[in-house]
Amino acid sequence: MNGALVIAIDGPAGAGKSTVGRAVASQLDLEYLDTGAMYRAVTFAVLRRGVDPHATDEVARVAEAIDLVIDDDGVFVDGVDATVDIRGREVTGSVSAVAANSAVRSEMVDRQRSWVLEHGGGVIEGRDIGSVVFPDADLKLFVTASPRIRAERRVAEIGGDVDEVEASIIERDRKDSTRSDSPLLEADGSTTVDTTGMSIDEVVAHILTMLPAEGADDRSTVR
Ligand code: CDP
Ligand code: CDP
Repeated sequence: MNGALVIAIDGPAGAGKSTVGRAVASQLDLEYLDTGAMYRAVTFAVLRRGVDPHATDEVARVAEAIDLVIDDDGVFVDGVDATVDIRGREVTGSVSAVAANSAVRSEMVDRQRSWVLEHGGGVIEGRDIGSVVFPDADLKLFVTASPRIRAERRVAEIGGDVDEVEASIIERDRKDSTRSDSPLLEADGSTTVDTTGMSIDEVVAHILTMLPAEGADDRSTVR
């Protein structure tokens, strides 16, 4: 029924994209893809092989070579379970450098488009989904919240010092927003959802009111 429905969710670190994206996908019986996990998985592979995250060509070769599986059981890189490690401090500290590599992005975007073709649409979440990967998505959202609130939510989830987490979030957003290839931005035609002061359920309910009408013939074609 939701054959080729594509919902693109972008936004800064810790805004609630994954939580809300998963819930929206489940409500609509769609598949969900966390593209941040893909860039984190490449970073995990780069660090594991002892490659410098800034070594452009070597990092690109890792991205092109890795076998990457993301499913309900976790994130697997060349058969190794990386589910926990991709969220760790080491990967988080290097992921923006790896994600700024154009060859890495090109490889990941190809894989993301293939995934959507294979799954007949879905909810896809990241930084450049509405601007680069699926500019013709049926619904394009920019989910955000104040840096302080995002840091407080992260600390409630995984612990840490709020000031430190906030500083690290602000720095990662700065790197992601100022890179030359596919920077984090509010894509043309996207709707901003500021979740500061909103619960997860409120955000999900709000997003569900924005869907194109069932059967509308202006739904995008997945290419
Ligand atoms: O979960 P969190 O918001 O902290 O980050 P994430 O969505 O897991 O993304 C991790 C990093 O991957 C980001 O900081 C970006 O550098 C990169 N990323 C990207 O460049 N493009 C995407 N479509 C998704 C993530
Ligand atoms: O994917 P992204 O980095 O944008 O954020 P997330 O991992 O989905 O959410 C970060 C944390 O904020 C999680 O612990 C969510 O449960 C929480 N959250 C919240 O408390 N209220 C919201 N409206 C959205 C997310």
